[in-house]
Amino acid sequence: MKKGMIFDLDGVLVFTDHFHYLAWKKLADRLNIEFNESMNNQLRGISRQDSLELILKERSTDYSEAEKRKLAEEKNGYYREFLQQMSPLDVSDEVRNILRWLKGRGYQLAVGSSSKNAPFILQRTQLSGYFDAVADGNHITRSKPDPEVFLKAAEYLGLSPFDCAVVEDARAGIQAAKAGGMTAIAMGDAVGANEADYTLDSLSDLPALITKMEHSFKTS
Ligand code: G6P
Ligand code: MG
Repeated sequence: MKKGMIFDLDGVLVFTDHFHYLAWKKLADRLNIEFNESMNNQLRGISRQDSLELILKERSTDYSEAEKRKLAEEKNGYYREFLQQMSPLDVSDEVRNILRWLKGRGYQLAVGSSSKNAPFILQRTQLSGYFDAVADGNHITRSKPDPEVFLKAAEYLGLSPFDCAVVEDARAGIQAAKAGGMTAIAMGDAVGANEADYTLDSLSDLPALITKMEHSFKTS
């Protein structure tokens, strides 16, 4: 049976979270709004416009919808300046080896990201060629924790969501994977142990986990 592995992008395959932080921080400083790294971590998996709402909080009503779109565009301008500097060196050999290993084992690979910049990041880092499908912020109307982006990724792979596993570093992403009926694999410390089906300290541990999961399919 064909199986799919769907990867979140920011924080799983590439470490762009710090760029998001620096870009939001620049905007927040200009608006005189408090913003720190721990607040940035709460924005993982959340769309740009929804992130802005969370940053503005009660000050959201000070701005019209058009002004808020401009603020989000301003942040994206700062963020894109960082992305311009990205290159294939921003993805470790280990990540590329793991993606090749999964392909060699017959998995179909997809990206499932809330980011509208995902195609640009995949192109800058030369990761596009590893994936059979990409579902990103340009294809969806509801961001994580809604399962839409992962359901799209499964659909683009031609697989049932039940035959897909998702690797995520965000609580919103784990909730999205579970809501979509996929196996949820949490990476890092964003998610409590009982929220995901499996947890990984880092992507390096994925092959051992996959081997274990395959073994339990055979024996159960
Ligand atoms: C990812 C990141 C979020 C970001 C979202 C939208 O999910 O984890 O922090 O807000 O993408 O990114 P974008 O590149 O479209 O602004
Ligand atoms: Mg992420």
